[in-house]
Amino acid sequence: MSSKSKQIKWGILAPGHIASKFATDLATVKDAQLYAVASRSLDKALAFKETHHAKVAYGNYMDLINDPKVDAVYIATPHAFHKIYTIDCLKQKKAVLCEKPMALNSADVAQMTQVALQEDVLLMEALWTCFLPHYREVLSFLSTGEYGEVVSVEADFGFAPIFDPSSRLFDRQLGGGSLLDIGIYPIILALSVLGVPDQIEAKADFFETAVDSSCRMKFHYKQGKSAELYSTLLEKTPTQGIIECEKGKIIIHPSFHKPTSLTFIDQKGKETHKDFGVTTLGYNFEISHFNELLRRGKTESPIASFEFSKNLMETMDKVKEIIGLSYFE
Ligand SMILES: NC(=O)c1ccc[n+]([C@@H]2O[C@H](COP(=O)([O-])OP(=O)(O)OC[C@H]3O[C@@H](n4cnc5c(N)ncnc54)[C@H](OP(=O)(O)O)[C@@H]3O)[C@@H](O)[C@H]2O)c1
Repeated sequence: MSSKSKQIKWGILAPGHIASKFATDLATVKDAQLYAVASRSLDKALAFKETHHAKVAYGNYMDLINDPKVDAVYIATPHAFHKIYTIDCLKQKKAVLCEKPMALNSADVAQMTQVALQEDVLLMEALWTCFLPHYREVLSFLSTGEYGEVVSVEADFGFAPIFDPSSRLFDRQLGGGSLLDIGIYPIILALSVLGVPDQIEAKADFFETAVDSSCRMKFHYKQGKSAELYSTLLEKTPTQGIIECEKGKIIIHPSFHKPTSLTFIDQKGKETHKDFGVTTLGYNFEISHFNELLRRGKTESPIASFEFSKNLMETMDKVKEIIGLSYFE
């Protein structure tokens, strides 16, 4: 960032499904501009530029990474390519907001954060849920201790896309499977409220492409605390979060990872409902946070910190090992 007052110029690398939603919300953030988009296909980049009013379209990723006008790059490729493009961007002094999961394993996450530190450039995993108002409210309420300690967490995330072995959801080369794509959200909730588990049990089913179709996890913590987590690409599930505390319970209504509402139920069974009135898709909250960090010359977010991304990927590595899921790493 050369000037404190100018708009932050964003580049989107890989204009797929999520990039389109991201661009829609980016347009609502006042100090940011969608400056450039890069696709492997120039026609696709031009169409995205037109739809989302970007200034420049590139037919390859390196032209975006090398464009000196770009301040920040949003990386929205399939998981398998997050690491390579993140490192390319950081080396060109571009701040990076990298889609989740940050990489395919924790060694790669460590390498990415190491490069960010070496280059002194901002890097953040796009853990958008962690920036949503309802999620901030849950964490802030728990920190008051009104309901005592968290005893257990239950969370699920399931939907049933049509099986296509070449799609990123099913292709092992691209990092397919339920765990890394959607199981990550129940895990984020467990890590946010209970921390890193002491012991993990996990069981999975697999597609013929050798990636997990469903994954059931039980995280064990000291004093009998636990988290029951589930992800699946075989069926639609409620996609809800339930946090049981010593003196009450919080329900994060479906879909718990998106902008949503909460119900607090105290010891006497009294229910309090809370809505947050979010009018966007919800990506603007992570974008605003990232912009603020960039303006302040930070390399790391205090919310989606390097430590959190490390713990997240190390936990998923342990689950991968237990269920026998591996990639071409
Ligand atoms: N935060 C969220 O809510 C959320 C939601 C969905 C997904 N995600 C994450 O975002 C990432 C992208 O997901 P998506 O659903 O947007 O995927 P997608 O629709 O398949 O888009 C991915 C894009 O990556 C590019 N790409 C580069 N190499 C590729 C290859 N070998 N095969 C396929 N595509 C390739 C393609 O763009 P070009 O061909 O135009 O270059 C493609 O459009 C994933 O890591 C996922 O976990 C996050």
